[in-house]
Amino acid sequence: MADYWFREAVIYCVDVDTFQDSDGDGIGDLRGLIARLDHIARLGATCVWLNPIHPSPERDDGYDITDYYGVRPSLGTLGDFVELVHAAGDRGIRVMIDLVVNHTSDEHPWFRSARSDPDSPYRDWYVWAKDEPSDLRQGMVFPGYQDSTWSFDEEAGEWYFHRFYDFQPDLNMANPEVRREVDKIIGFWLQLGVSGFRLDAAPFIIELTVPDDPNPRQDFDWLGQFHRQLSWRRGDAVVLAEANVEPHQLTEYFGDGLRLPMLFNFLLNQRTFLALARSDVAPIIQALGEMPALPHGCQWATFMRNHDEVDLGRLVGREQEEVFAAFGPDPDMQLYGRGIRRRLAPMLGNDRKRLEMAYALQFSLPGTPVIRYGEEIGMGDDLALPERNAIRTPMQWADAPNAGFSAARRKRDLVRPVISTGDFGYPAVNVEDQQRDASSLLAWFQRAILTLRECVEFGTGDCQYVDTGHRDVLALVRAAPSGAMLALTNLGPTKRTIDLGPQEAQDGDPIDVFGDRDYAPASGQLEGLELAGYGYRWIRLRRTIGDRVATR
Ligand code: NOJ
Repeated sequence: MADYWFREAVIYCVDVDTFQDSDGDGIGDLRGLIARLDHIARLGATCVWLNPIHPSPERDDGYDITDYYGVRPSLGTLGDFVELVHAAGDRGIRVMIDLVVNHTSDEHPWFRSARSDPDSPYRDWYVWAKDEPSDLRQGMVFPGYQDSTWSFDEEAGEWYFHRFYDFQPDLNMANPEVRREVDKIIGFWLQLGVSGFRLDAAPFIIELTVPDDPNPRQDFDWLGQFHRQLSWRRGDAVVLAEANVEPHQLTEYFGDGLRLPMLFNFLLNQRTFLALARSDVAPIIQALGEMPALPHGCQWATFMRNHDEVDLGRLVGREQEEVFAAFGPDPDMQLYGRGIRRRLAPMLGNDRKRLEMAYALQFSLPGTPVIRYGEEIGMGDDLALPERNAIRTPMQWADAPNAGFSAARRKRDLVRPVISTGDFGYPAVNVEDQQRDASSLLAWFQRAILTLRECVEFGTGDCQYVDTGHRDVLALVRAAPSGAMLALTNLGPTKRTIDLGPQEAQDGDPIDVFGDRDYAPASGQLEGLELAGYGYRWIRLRRTIGDRVATR
């Protein structure tokens, strides 16, 4: 049977330049990350995903690349990268990197050449219009911070297309040379040992933009070709794609298992926030119902927070307002008219019970969990920083100068200020203190993730919703060849008693394996199950001793 490692993985997302500085220059680096791998291993993560590490003027946190075959000098060298892959492998941790090929930086030598000479071999690597397109603002991603998607380039004497900021010209994916270059880029990093890529902006990469065409063709077949190329180079390499699209379009991205193997579940993320705001499971049930069935070998990736704003763009206006009111009421907490630029702990009022409940919920939903660095200790945000930088502050390692992130002597040298005061300042929230405290959030994450990894049904099982008669309680049965798990989550503050009755997937006595407290053990009848306000319980219903043993 194929080894779909990514379906049982726990992915930890690291922004190298804000994680750990090893040389005191104020910028996190690969050697710093290597030194902190044991933290990631102890957390139980099995894969790290690095936000872009390539050379970049960093006007979009590295998502504006000037060289796909290198490492940003402030982060280290290619040698350090290979050391990282090796050291991570020693700990059973795989490494994935961002693949950002929808666009380059406008400082990339390809674009410099393209704009300076109509006969440049790179001219057709970008998307140009000789005449001013009629709709300059169509499909902008960062309203309020971006003026247009077409900009006039004085040097080229033409208009160029940029889906994102004007310093990120789109590559022309209709050009076979560009596609060949993308193949070379993935081949290069696979050769250096990565286990896969987080594919940035997938819907825009496959869009074949033509000036004045409001409905450009999308080349879904390219996703298949891309994935085939990847698999030929390394059979177990994976692509985790960012495709925040309408539910009915998602099937095209999976392409019956022949295109992309793993997609972030943006729909579930947005509906989860709505469910949390309402203490009502209905939006989650709705999302589970709207999600297309996964083709064989495919997987969702779940997340609570990532490095961007919480994007509520797929909720209708009234629903968005509810989430804003609950979790981001100040205009300054909101971004691009559709999102919230906060970390989860402040959004939930730093309420430990709700935080645990929210992550226990994420872990029990279908998909591979992705966790952003700092979530495991409940880090906060800094709204004084612009746009999404609010949630990109340095990792808080200790109650020590610069939070133990850097030995830089001048604060102004830090890549971004550390959060130093208040409930989320590093004296109150840091790894070192939580490591010593068996009741800390970090200790909770470690237990939760280890239990999750033992209960492989969460990653691989199908998902059956069971009606509990309480609108605030979610009951999911996750059944797989290895066994079956029941996950109960109380989204509301009121204590509940749940009567389910024996479940189809059940066999033998149920066993409580994880919960917010010690409950009276579940009986085979699954009746009278106590659940505290914001409580959660994971109960094993069946265990199969066979080719795959579930250990709890
Ligand atoms: C999506 C990334 O998540 C975001 O951070 C970035 O700004 C855009 N793509 C452009 O690359």
